[in-house]
Amino acid sequence: MTHGCAALQDSASAVTAEGACYVESMSEGNPFHDPLRFERHAPPCALVIFGANGDLTRRMLMPALYRLAYDRSLPPGFTVVGNSRSAMSDERFRDVMRESVIQFLRDTPFDERIWRDFAEGLYYRAGDLRDQGFYRELEKVLASAENERHSGGNVVFYLATQPSLYEAAAAGIGAAGLQQSAGWRRLVIEKPFGRDLDSARDLNRKLHAVFPEESIYRIDHYLGKETVQNVLAFRFGNGVFEPLWNRRYVNHVQITAAESIGVEGRAAYYQESGALRDMIQNHLLQVMATVAMEPCAVYEPNAVRDERAKLLRSIRILREDEVDSHAVAGQYGPADIGGEKARGFRQEDGANPDSQTDTYAALALFVENWRWAGVPFYIRTGKRMPRRVTDIAISFNTAPFSLFGSDGQTGLMATTPNLLVLRIQPEEGISLRFLSKQPGGGMRLRPVSMDFNYGSSFGARLPSAYETLLLDVMTGDATLYTRQDMVEASWAVVQPVMNAWAGRRFDFPNYAAGTWGPAAADEMLARQGHAWRKP
Ligand code: BG6
Repeated sequence: MTHGCAALQDSASAVTAEGACYVESMSEGNPFHDPLRFERHAPPCALVIFGANGDLTRRMLMPALYRLAYDRSLPPGFTVVGNSRSAMSDERFRDVMRESVIQFLRDTPFDERIWRDFAEGLYYRAGDLRDQGFYRELEKVLASAENERHSGGNVVFYLATQPSLYEAAAAGIGAAGLQQSAGWRRLVIEKPFGRDLDSARDLNRKLHAVFPEESIYRIDHYLGKETVQNVLAFRFGNGVFEPLWNRRYVNHVQITAAESIGVEGRAAYYQESGALRDMIQNHLLQVMATVAMEPCAVYEPNAVRDERAKLLRSIRILREDEVDSHAVAGQYGPADIGGEKARGFRQEDGANPDSQTDTYAALALFVENWRWAGVPFYIRTGKRMPRRVTDIAISFNTAPFSLFGSDGQTGLMATTPNLLVLRIQPEEGISLRFLSKQPGGGMRLRPVSMDFNYGSSFGARLPSAYETLLLDVMTGDATLYTRQDMVEASWAVVQPVMNAWAGRRFDFPNYAAGTWGPAAADEMLARQGHAWRKP
């Protein structure tokens, strides 16, 4: 590949101390549809993927890497070393990865020339991560990446394996001394970071025995989503919203991550995890932290992460006797959806017919600080819900009195609260609901909505979270990665709920596939005088 900073002309570019190249370029044409671009280019490096034959690599990592190659964001000589236990030649690995990219690539054409250039840097080494001999082999490939492909000794180790191998991989890297070099060495680790607070601490200790915290990048792909990043832009880039962003004006907040799919062949994993661990402990608490954190003094990785961590630590830990009124577990059962038979979780392949796993979880949380005291944050997530939607809804207090009266007969709606919805996916955008006078005589008010849509406003595709996060780790930007203290603080939030649910026999299934979850979740909000939105 010949691209890199030097190949880009007519742009202002700067190279940072770490070698990352940033380019600002302004394209001609409609400035709204083709905005100022701020492109980043990774410095020379190699990426070692442990678990290269797995689902994550094929569905997410490879398509994201291909797209970075397509955007010319990868450095010259970029090298990938894939590893798993199955024997495979480099050629075979390239073929398998090519098929995966073609299958899972979205919104980007597959260009044979770009693939060929990129695939020249793909290598594969089979090996067991518990066998020290494998790391000697790895050392040789990394040395040749450095000498022949000029990776500068910089390496990202990506743990896309089963979590049970995390410790072995870190220990193996450490014993072989591969965490040190003349360049930088970084470790990316996928969730779950432990199964509970104690195991998370234990895992952190073991990782720290090999890598310092600043070289550990714990990935939470929700933070990499363009729309989640935009929450900070929306809050802190505008003067108008932030003054309202507190207990004086906000009545409550709802964060929803609903999926229409079930467990899709992952029942074995999911059975051990459940919705609370799979989605809330990590993704949704990070989203909540982004919505509720204080502004940071500077936009720098640790300044942003300090504020997120601070917010997570301010979430009130539920007492044992509060769990049942503040947390609801659900599991989907079989249903007939539009004439089609849908299976219940217990009927999924690999699921236990008596499974007590939560496929739905909802929490009512409170933040104990000056900004948010007394404002409920309701969080829910579930599989097999009516549709896929992730959003954050901020419900504001109603007007202090109703100047225009309230008359159910005429449909006056003076008490409908203003609602700000940050749509994370799909149909990414933001809308604000407010009341407007209905045309015609009298003062009849109706809710209307002001809408911003990414698609129509920017006309550009949104980069996938993995594209963003892979480039971030290569450029050494940890802003969107979770830190040890954040992980531990979020385990602390869910720990009392996990304790209460462990070993309990639930009355499952308690919601039918294709519905919005168990009645108990509606009751939880009704007790506070609230109701879940139907997104
Ligand atoms: C993963 C969970 O972390 O996130 C999955 O393990 C879930 O169970 C997925 O389906 C949801 O991600 P997204 O980006 O599709 O909302």
